[in-house]
Amino acid sequence: MTKAEHGAALEITDEQIDQICEEFGNREGSVVQVLQIIQEKYGYVPAEVLERVGDDLGIPHSKMFGVLTFYSQFYQEPRGKFILKVCVGTACHVRGAELLVDKIKENLHIEAGENTEDMMFTLEPVACLGSCALAPMAMVNGNSFGKLSPDRMLEMIHQFQEEEASENKESVSAS
Ligand code: FES
Repeated sequence: MTKAEHGAALEITDEQIDQICEEFGNREGSVVQVLQIIQEKYGYVPAEVLERVGDDLGIPHSKMFGVLTFYSQFYQEPRGKFILKVCVGTACHVRGAELLVDKIKENLHIEAGENTEDMMFTLEPVACLGSCALAPMAMVNGNSFGKLSPDRMLEMIHQFQEEEASENKESVSAS
């Protein structure tokens, strides 16, 4: 059994990997789709999972690693439950994107590309998100937020923390 983590600990079994590969006909040409599904479920592609996919699709490990590193969409390490993508493109830069990034760093004690210790947040400065009129922009788990101020950014972080705390409370009281 292979373990994977994405915020909370999750598990992916060899059988589940086999099943995903089978759904795509165990074809070498479907490697990117298979890895996308694995990453969607687990937040990243662990090395053991990569090997198993390679075995199923008949692709040598070195080639699998080449695919994983070629596409910037794939991650090899676990990431936080909330991915804070802060745009540092030109329009956002001139409207204070760095202040947003600094606010996150200061409050969560992480640098760009790092996760918080509790695996709640990952900070990812990114290039233009395509909504420059709303600069400065950020995206959190696929949702866009525009015209942000450092205080608003902090408020959002607190909101996510509160939501998470109440979700945890509910799951404790339900068990
Ligand atoms: S530069 Fe930030 S959205 Fe375009």
